[in-house]
Formats: sequence, structure tokens, C-alpha cells
Amino acid sequence: MTAHEQRPLLEMRDISKTFGASKALSQVSLTVHAGEVHALMGENGAGKSTLMKILSGAYTADPGGSVLIDGAAATLGDPLKAKAYGIAVIYQELSLAPNLTVAQNMFLGNEPSRFGLADRAEMRRRADPILKQLGIDFDASRRVAELSLGERQMVEIARALTTNARIIVMDEPTTSLTSRETEKLFDVIARLKADGIAIIYISHRMEEIYQLSDRVSVLRDGAYVGTLDRADLSASKLVSMMVGRDLSSFYKKEHRQVTDERAAVLSVRNIGDGIKVHDCSFEVRAGEVLGIAGLVGSGRTELARLVYGADHRTSGEVMLNGKPLSIASPRDALDAGIAYLTEDRKALGLFLDMSISDNINMGVIAADAKVGGALDFKRARERAAQAVKALSIRTAGTQINVGALSGGNQQKALLARLLETRPKALILDEPTRGVDVGAKSEIYRIIDELAQNGIAIVVISSDLPEILGIADRVLVMREGRIAGEVNQPIEQEAIMAFATGTTGNAA
Ligand SMILES: Nc1ncnc2c1ncn2[C@@H]1O[C@H](COP(=O)(O)OP(=O)(O)OP(=O)(O)O)[C@@H](O)[C@H]1O
Ligand SMILES: [Mg+2]
Repeated sequence: MTAHEQRPLLEMRDISKTFGASKALSQVSLTVHAGEVHALMGENGAGKSTLMKILSGAYTADPGGSVLIDGAAATLGDPLKAKAYGIAVIYQELSLAPNLTVAQNMFLGNEPSRFGLADRAEMRRRADPILKQLGIDFDASRRVAELSLGERQMVEIARALTTNARIIVMDEPTTSLTSRETEKLFDVIARLKADGIAIIYISHRMEEIYQLSDRVSVLRDGAYVGTLDRADLSASKLVSMMVGRDLSSFYKKEHRQVTDERAAVLSVRNIGDGIKVHDCSFEVRAGEVLGIAGLVGSGRTELARLVYGADHRTSGEVMLNGKPLSIASPRDALDAGIAYLTEDRKALGLFLDMSISDNINMGVIAADAKVGGALDFKRARERAAQAVKALSIRTAGTQINVGALSGGNQQKALLARLLETRPKALILDEPTRGVDVGAKSEIYRIIDELAQNGIAIVVISSDLPEILGIADRVLVMREGRIAGEVNQPIEQEAIMAFATGTTGNAA
């Protein structure tokens, strides 16, 4: 008997959710079986996280829908009830207490106790087999603060297992994992699946969907579009379900050979921090998109942070249009004309309780005031409206708080704010992380347009197809140094050879 003939473990029927004037979900249904990985896909703002927050009891659905577990009606409505039904959600932003141990985190909120005190020995006794089941090799007494992001993700899963979860939701779990950690997560998912646990898996990464999922359900604009079986999966089918049209016009750029005659806009000479970055030099010319590739941990972000003044450099200098800069902070860099988009989704640099408009205008309002003498609200509103349109930020209006945007749309709002400062050089660290296919294509087009307007652009990305697609030239980092440069035609093999240090007999 296949999973499909069994009674579903979870059925969500006609689920709707309204926030103020906007409808995030309208009559969405989802059916999930025990032992399957069910992927949930859709563009940024389609309603994926909202649907899962209803399942976890974080949000209450509008009246009219129903949830069945094992065929029986379930009343969710608050997190404790959802937990009692065996539902565990691992959110994009992890929720562990960094100063507690792994075991303490696993049992947070339902600690085994003796005589009213937390029973540490009992906690360890119960934690160990769960960690073992997940193939985890770090100790339950480690403090969470000492663990890598991937290891923390595992602790979240371990915590779900202490509550006997039967349905585990993972909302974009791999966005900040290394490829090693991702592989490990996939092993764990396979084990959970074999134990009959249902996994609802949210991701924008097509390869992951192919690799993991038994079925895929697609949401679009808060509505259920359909479900595909593994055998029927194809990129073009999924994309057209998600965006409602064929994406045949997916962005493709003309690679430019930016010649040496063009002056360097950004020059970095022998920069280093004595720890993770050593003696790095490079130049980016006007109109050029320079890719920086390398394995996770090779020092790409650390290099960018030195250039941008976020960390202290112990050697080297940074020049803009031939003039040495004294950059001691990101503010100095921005004032000089170097803007940096952070890779860190958690610390996006957005003010979540402020409006989209205020966030977008934040960097330029001071300049406005200088020119006009007063804050120009009309101009600010127009600027925000234009940016929302240009980047297709999905929102009911520019006065809505940024915190109410979906994850991918927050990323776009941050990019909009940077662009308003009209930088001369732009450093983008993982610019399309968590961004859906359509918006990715738009961001690539925008990067290309900016380059055509003479901005010097650096793109750091772990996504090789992305680097190959948008860079005019690629630097590859390894162990904190620039291991090599790849010029056109830019080929994946050449990048990998430098990244892994296997360039022995390469040209
Ligand atoms: N707390 C909230 N208040 C107001 N609107 C909200 C809130 N949470 C979500 N929304 C809106 O609901 C819609 C769906 O958002 P949701 O976060 O579910 O999207 P998503 O599919 O998870 O997108 P992403 O891929 O970008 O994470 C969006 O239009 C969003 O702005
Ligand atoms: Mg989301």
C-alpha cells in the first residue's frame, strides 16, 4: 500500500488568514501522510510560513477551516495544544537559548524534575539516545552558544523529538548551513521519514526539493495551486505553478569583458586581519560585476567586512577612485560610497517595527534634509513606492511594518534601502538567499542595470550557477587568501579547482 491510500496523518482544510486588510491565506488545503517529505513551495509572500504558523498554533486561523489529525478534528489555536498533537515547527530563525546546554534546550519547558528541581541526570539519560538516533556527535552538556548553525539546527530537531513529534515542519532550514551540514540534515530527514514521521519542508532551492520530496504542494498569492507527485516533478511545471506563467524570460545577462582601460572604482590592497584574511588584493572597475567564490569558511564574508569597516583590519588599504579611504566603521564606508548587503538574515539591518517606507528612506533622509532644509515626506513616499515596484516587494502598502513582510521580501527591502544611497561600489553578500525564482531573476536584472550605470559591484555567493550567471570575472578564495582569478569564459571546473586547492596541473 502506498502512502496515498492510507488515511492522511494531517489534513488542513479551507484555512484562511486575514491580517488587517490583507488576506494572507484563502481557503488553503494541505494533506500530508506519515513517512513522507512534503515540500511546500511558493514565491516570497505566498503564505507558506503563515500556514505553518497556524499549524503550530502561533497564529489562529480565520473561522471556517478545519484541521484533522489521524482523521479526527483537532483544535490547534495555541502552541501547547499543537505540541500535544505531535506538531513541531522549526522556524527560519532558530529559537534556542544560547547560554543553556544542549540537553537543557531540548527539554526547555518540560524538564524532567525530582522534588520540584530540574533533574539533570534524567535529562541527560533521555537526551543521549535521541542525539544518537540523529547521528549527532556533540555532547549534550555543550553550551549552545559554542555550536555552529548546523549543529543548532540539529538541536532544534532533537528538541522536537523529545516531545514525540509526528509532524515536523522545517521552514527554510538550509539557508545558513554549509553543504556538509546540509548533507547531515538530509540524512536525519531520511531517518525521521523511515520512522514514520511526516516532514513538511519549505525551501526555495529546487535541487533540495528534487532530492528530498515525495510530494510538493504549491501556494500562490495565499491560495492553494496544486500538489505534484515526485514522479511528475519538473522545474518548468513547478515554476509555472508558482508564478502563474512560464518563466521562459528568465534573466540571462550579456557578459561584459570590462577592459583594463576603465579605471578601478574600488581597489583593495594587501588587506588582512591577521586571523582569517591574509594579504588580499583586488580591483573592481566601473560597470564590472566581480564574483567572489569559495567554500563556506574560506573567508569571503570576513574579507568583505574588512573592506566595509565592519571589522578591524591590521594591514592593507582601501581606495575609491584612486583615493585612499580611512574607513573605521560601516557608516564611514557608506558615506564614502561603498554599500554592503549583509548575508546575515537574522541581523538584516532592518528595523522591523518601522514602516517599509521609513526603512527604505532611512539612509537618505539626512541627505534630503541637507538639500531641502526639511524632511520631504512626499518624496520619501514616492521613493518607497518606486522601490517597492522596482524590486517587486510584495506588500499591501509602504506604510506597513517591515516585520510583517515575508522573509524574502524583507531581503528585497534591505536591498532597496542600499540602492537609495546611490553607492559607487556595492558589495552584495549572498544577495538572493531565501529569495524566490522570480525575484531572483529580478535581482539579477537590477545588478546588471546598476553595473551598466557604472557602479562597481562585488557579489559573494555560494551558489555557483549564480556566480556563473552574473559575474564578469571571478575571484576564488581559499583559507583566507585569494587562490585564483577566473576570467571569461568562466567555468565551474576552474572555480572548483581553486576553491579546493587542486590546481596542480590546471592552466
Ligand atoms: N504578522 C503579520 N502581519 C501582517 N501581515 C503578515 C504577517 N505575517 C505575514 N503577513 C503577510 O502574509 C503574507 C504571507 O507571508 P508569509 O510569511 O507566509 O510568506 P512566505 O510564503 O513564507 O514567504 P517567504 O518565502 O518570503 O518566506 C505576506 O503578504 C505577508 O506580508
Ligand atoms: Mg517564509
